[in-house]
Amino acid sequence: MSAPVDHDPFLDGFAEFAHAEASRHPAMAEAMGALVDALERSTPLETGPRPTYPVIDEHLGPCLDAVVGAPGELLRLVADRIGWTIPYAEHAGESDMDHMRANYAYAPIVGTNPISSGGLEEPFPLYASADVFAGAVVQGPGVTYPSHVHKATEIFWVAAGTADWQMGDEWTNRGPGATIFHPTGTRHATVTTDEPQLMLFAWTSDADCVPVIIRF
Ligand SMILES: [Fe+2]
Repeated sequence: MSAPVDHDPFLDGFAEFAHAEASRHPAMAEAMGALVDALERSTPLETGPRPTYPVIDEHLGPCLDAVVGAPGELLRLVADRIGWTIPYAEHAGESDMDHMRANYAYAPIVGTNPISSGGLEEPFPLYASADVFAGAVVQGPGVTYPSHVHKATEIFWVAAGTADWQMGDEWTNRGPGATIFHPTGTRHATVTTDEPQLMLFAWTSDADCVPVIIRF
């Protein structure tokens, strides 16, 4: 009789996808290696609070119905178990950030616990890792996530919806199936127009860093 095999569909599927992404995007090989290593060592956490917000209640379901590719399928595996939060409490009272914060939320899936969220109920990630931070993002229509930088190496995989993405001085329109790679310190922004965007993201270095909004 063989021992039980302790496999998790999300962790296994994400690691398999990250491994394939390293082949498709050689510039991401180091980041994907770190992600695969972390996913292979990650362990499920007890289920915690599952806060939600109007932007999620309105847009997550339609986005999940429309997903394209492996990232969307991975998000479908966990969507009913994740809890959401809103970033940038320290920018509350700034009109553009108030608009963004009313129409944007993210959910930790792999990471440390707790997530700091400025007094909001703190969602638990589903899987523990001190080395990477990965999760889901929903950005509602007509929302500007302003230019910002952070030390973390960041990858976004667009699962549904299109948006304009800034990287450095370049802007491109990116939709379902897109992979967007931000090396450490890259200035970037995301602007949605007529539809929401659902993304899977990963910070594969400096997972505890704090993003800085650029106001010039
Ligand atoms: Fe970022």
